[in-house]
Amino acid sequence: MSWKAIGIFDSGVGGLTVLREIIKTLPQEDTVYLGDTARVPYGTKSPETVVRFARQITSFLVSRDIKLLVVACNTASAVSLDELKAEFPIPIVGVIEPGAAQAAKVTRSGRVGVIGTAGTIRSSAYTKAIKKINPDIEVITAECPMFVPLVEEGWTDNEVARLTAGIYLKKLKESSVDTLVLGCTHYPLLKGIISEVMGDGVTLVDSAEETARVVREILAEKGETRPVEEKGNHHFFVTDVPAGFVRVGNRFLGGALGDVYQVDLEKELLQGGRV
Ligand code: DGL
Repeated sequence: MSWKAIGIFDSGVGGLTVLREIIKTLPQEDTVYLGDTARVPYGTKSPETVVRFARQITSFLVSRDIKLLVVACNTASAVSLDELKAEFPIPIVGVIEPGAAQAAKVTRSGRVGVIGTAGTIRSSAYTKAIKKINPDIEVITAECPMFVPLVEEGWTDNEVARLTAGIYLKKLKESSVDTLVLGCTHYPLLKGIISEVMGDGVTLVDSAEETARVVREILAEKGETRPVEEKGNHHFFVTDVPAGFVRVGNRFLGGALGDVYQVDLEKELLQGGRV
């Protein structure tokens, strides 16, 4: 029997933090990852543009016969998940709902902070998802756009990162949240500094871990989990030349990336008659 792969995409390298959790949770599964490195960042772009990119990438991954799609990018999950679910007939998992569910579960004070890109925070997707679970939870949000370039530069533990975090997180700290959702693929790499600034009493929620759990549940329910004795293969595609992705990606994935191939999405989709 041949088993299909799990598709996963992000605007660039950030989604590798989600892939890392999926590999940890389901080491037997094959995966196909696409990082849209030619068009990153998504966090500063309009919802219309991000939806267009997300539809193109999903068409490409679906054409590779995947069994489930993970939208690993918080910004893309925030603005395009409904459109993708309506258009493509496979299970599609975003990172917002799993992160929101975990935050609603762990908060004791009912005051939850959410940080993310401008696109994610302006969509209010996390606030809506948390309030859908428990309308009494108060959600305080903050955009932290500089965190993305800091992490890509590898500046996750120096004075610049510490100062930036201090400024961005001031309002949340003063709001006495007891839970903080790291609502961006890059932020798990800043966990150390963020928890230093927020203090011991604040639980950090990493959407990646929760998302991997949801993927495992869906595959189990559908009887589509590969046998545990198998070992998954991992394929990587990017839309710009692979060099930068490989350099930064190893840090995000926490291990050696395999071969990374460049793909021209528009050409692929034109050939397949999908755009
Ligand atoms: N992957 C994006 C996210 O999680 C961060 C990088 C970007 O802005 O594209 O929102």
